[in-house]
Amino acid sequence: MRQFKSIERCDIELSPITILVGRNGVGKSNILDALRFVADALRNTLEYAIRERGGIDQVRRKSLGGRPTNPMIALELSLQGGQTARYSFKIAAVQGREFRVDLESCDILNVNGDVTHGFKVSNGQITNWKSTSPQPAAVPDRLLLVAASGIPEFRPVFDLLTRLAFHNLNPEVMKFPQRPEPGMLLAHDGHNLASVIKQLESSDPAKLERVQDYLQAIGVPVKRITHKQAGALETIEVGQEMSVPGGKRNSIFDAIALSDGTIRALGILVSLVSAGPSLIGIEEPETALHPAAAGVLMEALTEGAERTQLIITCHSPDLLDHESVSPEMIRPVLLENGRTVVGKLDPAKADLMKKHLATAGDLLRLDQLAPDPKDIQRQEDVRGTLWEGIA
Ligand SMILES: Nc1ncnc2c1ncn2[C@@H]1O[C@H](COP(=O)(O)OP(=O)(O)OP(=O)(O)O)[C@@H](O)[C@H]1O
Ligand SMILES: [Mg+2]
Repeated sequence: MRQFKSIERCDIELSPITILVGRNGVGKSNILDALRFVADALRNTLEYAIRERGGIDQVRRKSLGGRPTNPMIALELSLQGGQTARYSFKIAAVQGREFRVDLESCDILNVNGDVTHGFKVSNGQITNWKSTSPQPAAVPDRLLLVAASGIPEFRPVFDLLTRLAFHNLNPEVMKFPQRPEPGMLLAHDGHNLASVIKQLESSDPAKLERVQDYLQAIGVPVKRITHKQAGALETIEVGQEMSVPGGKRNSIFDAIALSDGTIRALGILVSLVSAGPSLIGIEEPETALHPAAAGVLMEALTEGAERTQLIITCHSPDLLDHESVSPEMIRPVLLENGRTVVGKLDPAKADLMKKHLATAGDLLRLDQLAPDPKDIQRQEDVRGTLWEGIA
């Protein structure tokens, strides 16, 4: 990604679980937002994705010299059957307020690395079209991939990128009854939790039981989670075991009675077990959880990563203390001269972890999670094929 918010130039290789760590305001959420921007622009429109973020001036990097910056995002994707894809676009601001797609490029490669299908759009004109299907019409302020998603070869790229889920869960929103919403993906703020639970209840109740198991391990005595209709709206109901004098009693709680930590953990677990997303980005999953629950949360994340790639931001040493957290997962983020810098973990620190002399949590407590200077340098030098299409 380039010239997106505080990011001038970042090139991140994602692991099955990638953990972004760094001080406040260094650009961790901006990295997640760059990915979310792609999903928003393809699911809705580019205009929507930009407007949602306060306009093109908020999306493009504000440079000190006042030189105009044009945001670029390029992604390398693994598709099913050994295929890979490269998808990238660059947005240009027009007269400060408006925007247009300057360049857009999509290549689909077979197992041998040969491009089998692809397109390139430059300034609203298709300049390269590699497909036997007819070309859709290019429009200057829209991404062609949306129109091209009707063509079977391009569909897997569109499907993958529109199934990126991002969560910055808001307990207040999750507790209140909501209008039913179709779709399996839990929304950014979690407002459609009841709809997703309803779908899980009917399609895969065993997964909902797994959520209950994890909640119990976290320390919430949940016996049952059910979807509940409330007139035209819907919410959830949770059965909990309560200790009372002389024994235990089961009580039913409405969502509104649940604790903030419980409903946030419920949201994260539901998203992790649902089959929908191709990648899940979670902002500070540890928020509102007791430190003693961090280990269980990390176990749930590890299990979730068997199905779906995860990228999380994290400020919790307790979460990073878990034995499953390896140096390859950690991506320290810094802000240098107002620019976000992210890289693999410094090898000396990775070595301490490998030799069990320190956990990632210990290093975070000591503010010792630094990026590898060589990896930062690599990003300066990178001229790889991924950027060929648009740079
Ligand atoms: N268009 C822009 N151009 C340059 N910098 C920007 C732009 N938009 C946001 N920023 C910078 O990005 C930073 C915020 O980054 P972000 O929200 O990703 O931080 P974070 O690492 O997630 O922090 P926290 O841990 O507090 O959540 C701010 O310092 C802000 O100045
Ligand atoms: Mg943040």
